[in-house]
Amino acid sequence: MLEDFFSPSSVAVVGASQNPGKIGYDILNNILRHGYAGAVYPINPKAQEILGCKAYADLASVTSDIDLAVIAVPPSAVMGVVEQCGKKKVDSVVIITAGFKEIGHEGALLEEQMAVRARELDIRVVGPNCLGIIDTASCLNASFAAGMPLAGHIGFFSQSGALCVAILDWALGENVGFSRFVSLGNKMDISETEVLLSMGKDDNTRVILGYLESIEDGQRFMEAAKQVSKTKPIIIIKSGTTSAGAKAASSHTGALAGSEHAYNAAFKQSGIVRAESMRALFGYAMAFANQPLPKGPSLAIITNSGGPGILAADACDRSSLHLSPIRKETADRLREFLPPTASVYNPIDIIGDASHERYEKTLAVVLKDELIHAVLILLTPTAAVNAEAVARGVVKLAEDTDKPVITAFMGEKRVRQARKIFQDHAIPTYDYPEDAISALDAMLSYRTWREKPERQFRHYEADTRKVREIFASIIKQHRHDLIENEAREILKAYGFRLPDSRIARTTKEAVAAASDIGLPVVMKIASPDVLHKSDMGGVRVGIETTTMVEDAFFDITSNIQQRQPEARILGVMVQEMIPQGKEVILGITRDIQFGPMVMFGLGGIYVEVLKDVAFRIAPLSVESADAMIRDIRSFPLLRGVRGEAPADIDAIRDALLRLSQMAVDFPEIIEADINPLLVCPEGQGAVAVDARITIHE
Ligand code: COA
Repeated sequence: MLEDFFSPSSVAVVGASQNPGKIGYDILNNILRHGYAGAVYPINPKAQEILGCKAYADLASVTSDIDLAVIAVPPSAVMGVVEQCGKKKVDSVVIITAGFKEIGHEGALLEEQMAVRARELDIRVVGPNCLGIIDTASCLNASFAAGMPLAGHIGFFSQSGALCVAILDWALGENVGFSRFVSLGNKMDISETEVLLSMGKDDNTRVILGYLESIEDGQRFMEAAKQVSKTKPIIIIKSGTTSAGAKAASSHTGALAGSEHAYNAAFKQSGIVRAESMRALFGYAMAFANQPLPKGPSLAIITNSGGPGILAADACDRSSLHLSPIRKETADRLREFLPPTASVYNPIDIIGDASHERYEKTLAVVLKDELIHAVLILLTPTAAVNAEAVARGVVKLAEDTDKPVITAFMGEKRVRQARKIFQDHAIPTYDYPEDAISALDAMLSYRTWREKPERQFRHYEADTRKVREIFASIIKQHRHDLIENEAREILKAYGFRLPDSRIARTTKEAVAAASDIGLPVVMKIASPDVLHKSDMGGVRVGIETTTMVEDAFFDITSNIQQRQPEARILGVMVQEMIPQGKEVILGITRDIQFGPMVMFGLGGIYVEVLKDVAFRIAPLSVESADAMIRDIRSFPLLRGVRGEAPADIDAIRDALLRLSQMAVDFPEIIEADINPLLVCPEGQGAVAVDARITIHE
C-alpha cells in the first residue's frame, strides 16, 4: 500500500535543475545526499548532467522502469508530465508544484482535470502543492526540506508544508527520530486516510502524528483511525475548527453543533489523541514514542521543591491521573535515607538540599512500589544538585522499568545539559510540570481506549415504513418542519415512550380530551409554524380543572394569533402531565464531514446558557452513549444530589441509541430535538415530552 512512494527502487525528478536555489535542485540534492540506494533520474530537457547524474530530456528517454516521479515544473507543464507518467507506466507521483486549488477557481479547475486524468491513467498522487515525502528506512528524502530527520519511529503527515519544515527542524534540534514524513498538500488524490492506513502497516512507525486542516471523508477516516489506533497511537492537531455552519440552525442541537464538536466526537470515537497546540503535539510525541503506556492512573511525583510539586499535583487533579497512595513499606524504606523534613507521601518532596544520589535512591525505591504506575521527576536547579548527574541516574533506572518515567527540570542554563542527556536517551523532558502531566494523561486515555472491550451496537425494532410515509407526505406538502403530532408518530415508531395526548380544535374538544387523559394536563399550540412554543405563549402546564382547560385554550390560541398572525393553527394539544423527572435534551444534527451527530445535555439553562452538551457521531455504540452521558459537567445532577433519587440513566442511554439509529436510517432528518426527555427516577424510564424534527428531500 503506497509502498512505491516510500521504498521505490527508482525515482525520477521531473524539473530537476542545476541551479542551486531552485526547488528542482534541492529535491534532487536531497535524494542523492541522504543515502538513497535506488536509481535516480533527473529529468530536464536542457541539461546533460545534474549533480553528477546523467539527465534525461523526458521520462520516455529513461529506458529502465521508474517507480516514483517527483514533479517540480511550473503549473502549466504539470499536466503534460502526468501524461508522460501514464505512458511510462509510473504509477506513483508526488506533485510539488503549487498554483492549483489553493489559488482559486482557475487553479481548482486545473487540479480537477489533473485528478480525472490521473485516475484514468491509474496514477496515485501525493500533492499537489506539497513539500514532498521522506522515508528514513529507505533513506529517501524526496522533498525540498532543509535536512533529513534521524531514523526513528514517528510517522508524520501534514496538510501544511510549513509545519513539516517546522517539525523537521524541531526533530533535528531535539534528536527525535522519524520513520516517515508526508506533506499532503492539496490532497488531490491521496488523503490522510490512506496515509494513516499505510503508516498503520509500516513496521518502522510506532506513533503517528498528524496536522490537519480538513478531512476529506469523515466516516472513512474514522474507520481507518479506529483500526490503526488499536495498535498504534495517533496524535492529531486539527486547526480551523469553528462553529461555522451552526449559524443557520433552527434547533438547539443544530445551534450548538459546529465542526469543533464534530471533530472532538470523531476523534474520541476513533481513539485519536487530540493535541490542542503544537506544544502539546511535540510533548505527546516525545512521551508516546519513547515510553511505555502507564498501566493505570497512579502517579508518583518526586521533587526537590514544594511549589512545582503542588503545581504538578494540581495538574494531576485536573486530569484522569491521580496521586498514587504510597505503600507503608515504600514510605519506611524512603525514611531510611531521607531527612526527617522530607515528605515521603506524594508528592515525594526530597527537599531543597537533595543531591543526585538522593534522587536516584528515591526513584529506585518508588519504581518498586507496585501501586505506582508512572513517575514524574521534577527538579529545580538548587546549588546542592547536579542536574546532569540526576539525569544520568534517571536514564539508568528508566531503562530497567516497564513504567513510564518522565521529567520536568525547570530553569534553563543550569538544566540545559541535563535536558540534552534526556533527549539523547529518549526520556521525555518538559519545561513545566503541567506539560508532563498532560502528556501522561494523554497516554493513559489512549491506553484506556485500547483496552476497551469490543464495541457493542444495538438494533431496535422500528416501524420505518410508517416514518417513510410521514416524510413522503410532508415533502409532498413542500414542508420541512414536522408538526408535533407528526414528530410524535416518528418517535413512537422508534419505540420512545410518549405522554398521552390529543389535538383539540375547540374548547369543548379540549375539555373532553383532558377528561379522557385525566387531569392535570399540559396544553400546547399545534402549529407547523410555531417553533418556539413557550416563547410565543403557546404552552400552559399544570392545568388542574376544566375551567383552567377552557382558559388555557383561549389564551394559547389568542397569544399565537397576536404574536404570530401568519401561523397556521391546527388546534391545541392536550397532553398528560408527566410527574417529577429530570429534563434532558437529546438531538440529531448533521456534520458536513462526519455525517449524523447525536447530542445530549441537561435541559434548560444547562444547554442554553452553559452549553454543557456532549456530541457523538452516529451510529452510537452502547459505550459511546454511556460516555456521552458522563461527559457533561452536570452529570452529577443526574446521579442525584442532596438525597435525590438518581435518574434512570439506562433510559437515557436507550433513548440516545434509538435516536442514533433513527439518524442513520433516515438521512433526510437534518435536525431533531427531543426537548425535554423527562427522565424518571431509576428503573422508571423516560418520556419524550416534546420533539421537533426538520427534514430535507
Ligand atoms: N520537463 C522537465 N523539466 C522541465 C519541464 C518539463 N516539462 N518544464 C520545465 N522544466 C525544467 C525547467 O527548465 C527548469 O530547469 P532549469 O533550472 O534547468 O531551467 C526546472 O524544470 C524548473 O522550471 P522553472 O520554470 O525554472 O520553474 P521554477 O523552478 O521557478 O518553479 C516550481 C517550479 C514547481 C518550484 C514552482 O512552480 C512552484 O510551484 N513553486 C512553489 C512550490 C511550493 O511551494 N510547493 C508547496 C510547498 S508546501
